[in-house]
Amino acid sequence: MKKIVVLISGGGSNLEAIAKACQIGNIPASIELVISNQPNVKGLERAQKFHLMSKVIEHQDFNSREEFDLALLEQILPIEPDLVVLAGFMRILTNDFTKALSGKLINIHPSLLPDYPGLNTHQQAIENGDLMHGISVHYVSNELDSGPIITQGALKIDPAQSVAKLINRIHKIEHAIYPKVIADIAKGYISLQGDQVKFAAESNFGPNHMEFFNV
Ligand code: GRF
Repeated sequence: MKKIVVLISGGGSNLEAIAKACQIGNIPASIELVISNQPNVKGLERAQKFHLMSKVIEHQDFNSREEFDLALLEQILPIEPDLVVLAGFMRILTNDFTKALSGKLINIHPSLLPDYPGLNTHQQAIENGDLMHGISVHYVSNELDSGPIITQGALKIDPAQSVAKLINRIHKIEHAIYPKVIADIAKGYISLQGDQVKFAAESNFGPNHMEFFNV
């Protein structure tokens, strides 16, 4: 059984989608630990609901990013995880952290990267009059919201819709795609070799894969 660690900062709806997929056997792996850098967030309640071990490591308790990331690694590395999943983890990570987990660290970002790294992606897409918005799942490199893309999911923006509605639609795509990607990684169908994502024939995904969602 493969071992996963999930890092969160908030609501944890992606954590829940992943935990469900593990529970019903769609992902052949177990979530060994959930770490939140924020106390009292809904994601921690969700971890509890699925009987997952969780820890809070508050970044405010550390003098530097380096020290915080080191504390994270001290919790993560002894588990010897096969995969570390960033699921709404709102911290910029140091090079030492991303290097220590190279090839085993993935993120989901709510935009069609390379568009809109960083925050407020939904608002920016609407304000710029974009026709499409979406999500990207990628291996994490040492730059913010960058690294080899595994897959993307897209939707058509309805300019009459609110940001909240768009966020809600984006979440639906995330919950459909992220567990599937993690399942393929756990099965060995997706891996990072150098800076290239490799897909086995059995994978649900492939190079330059983008799925359109009517949500
Ligand atoms: C998601 O939209 C994800 O793409 C972004 O943060 C959000 C987290 O949502 N990185 P949740 O905490 O999983 O509900």
